[in-house]
Amino acid sequence: MIRTCHLDDLPPGAVLRVPADVPIAVFNVDGEVYAIDDTCTHQDASLSDGWVEGRLVECPLHEAAFDLRTGAPTCLPARRPVRTHAVTVHPDGRVEVHVGVPAPGSGAGVAAGAAERGA
Ligand code: FES
Repeated sequence: MIRTCHLDDLPPGAVLRVPADVPIAVFNVDGEVYAIDDTCTHQDASLSDGWVEGRLVECPLHEAAFDLRTGAPTCLPARRPVRTHAVTVHPDGRVEVHVGVPAPGSGAGVAAGAAERGA
């Protein structure tokens, strides 16, 4: 788990790049906070430098877009999803990213569960 910031420092529309072994990008979209791996799965570009439109972030290098809720690419040239990470926003405004724990509903947990069941 990484404590990233206070929600006051991540207002709606803001993006924060969190340096870590694997850098994380944290987005506030209309009050919902999302965390994904910062590095595009196509090549080495920082998604925190990209453009956010709705719940999508567009890579600044070749314009692949990723769904912030699922990490799935929505257009080429990226073919692989970025990892999502669960986020906790505490009542006092602390924002924590649970690195390696897929965001609820991201599909990664579903895929992992399916793999565990042998699907
Ligand atoms: S590096 Fe992101 S689309 Fe190419």
